[in-house]
Amino acid sequence: MTQILEIRDLKALAKRRVPKLFFDYADSGAWTEGTYRANEEDFAKIKLRQRVLVDMSNRSLETTMIGHKVSMPVALAPTGLTGMQHADGEMLAAQAAEAYGIPFTLSTMSICSIEDVASVTTKPFWFQLYVMREREFVLNLIDRAKAAKCSALVLTLDLQILGQRHKDLRNGLSAPPRMTPKHLWQMATRPRWCMKMLGTKRRTFRNIVGHAKSVTDLSSLGAWTNEQFDPQLSWKDVEWIKERWGGPLILKGILDPEDAKMAAKTGADAIVVSNHGGRQLDGAPSSISMLPRIVDAVGHHIEVHIDGGIRSGQDVLKAIALGAKGTFIGRPFLYGLGAMGKEGVTLALDIIRKEMDVTMALCGKRNIADVSRDILAE
Ligand SMILES: Cc1cc2nc3c(=O)[nH]c(=O)nc-3n(C[C@H](O)[C@H](O)[C@H](O)COP(=O)(O)O)c2cc1C
Repeated sequence: MTQILEIRDLKALAKRRVPKLFFDYADSGAWTEGTYRANEEDFAKIKLRQRVLVDMSNRSLETTMIGHKVSMPVALAPTGLTGMQHADGEMLAAQAAEAYGIPFTLSTMSICSIEDVASVTTKPFWFQLYVMREREFVLNLIDRAKAAKCSALVLTLDLQILGQRHKDLRNGLSAPPRMTPKHLWQMATRPRWCMKMLGTKRRTFRNIVGHAKSVTDLSSLGAWTNEQFDPQLSWKDVEWIKERWGGPLILKGILDPEDAKMAAKTGADAIVVSNHGGRQLDGAPSSISMLPRIVDAVGHHIEVHIDGGIRSGQDVLKAIALGAKGTFIGRPFLYGLGAMGKEGVTLALDIIRKEMDVTMALCGKRNIADVSRDILAE
């Protein structure tokens, strides 16, 4: 096996170890995947400023995100079906993040439930909320996150309706996977994955089944999610959600300065500049290309975070240089998880941390707090 030195190596290994339909679910964007590609490509266009003969000793990446101490400005993004990349995936990723001293965000559409993750962690994690039409279910979900002592609510705003991802339709994606000859073959060729999956009882959307009124078994779930995302979600809804939750609130999925201004007015603690990893509006600009404008518009009023296309510690540093206070990574940790379970998530974080640390030093900085636009080349 080749040495694993960068996130790309973890992706290649995940591709060999995760059944095609679930690997493709992670490695996909909407329609032409143009925005998905742009998220990564636009980071590469930003150049760094090399400095020499400055003291590079005693470096620190420690900072805060919404006031929470983090060992580096990176959080694990909420991702659906993570427990299908690897058995018990959300529990393992949460443990890796906790050991690393960074936030883990559990998706509403996770396989392991809020309670599952709480049972294997000792520090609070963050919970991501999708607002469904069945309001009783949403209220209950918020209360469950509170009961599990989640320390921030991440409210996703950019998925009122679902973007179309061709790969998922062609693969006939579902959780658990259907037992057609094609799906059976995809799994049979990934025996490690199968063995682990047979060893867990967590194979469906455990935040939902048994909690939402209309979902009693798996066959009704697909129909439920299609119908349930609320296309009428509005800024008014943010108010009651904020009130019901009563804790730190992060608004995720802002890509436009006007929306950023609206978000800042809600009194939320942070926004995440995001296009959902290129999975929703194909043709939208990359997250990193919109970051400077959004920071200029609201950076003095609200903390600005970003996700989309981060594949290295250099990318994190570039985002911080352009004014982000924190970043989220989705696919990098999913590839680590699919490749090697918890150890793979830790390895993904190690890779990013080391790249960030060395890059910061070679740009002549010792502390992440001192990183600003002046580390970027003209
Ligand atoms: C497989 C997958 C599933 C996702 N599921 C969710 C989700 O359930 N809720 C959500 O708010 N965002 C979801 N996202 C978006 C991520 O939170 C994040 O915005 C995106 O992955 C960042 O881009 P990156 O993967 O390039 O780091 C998902 C992304 C991926 C790749």
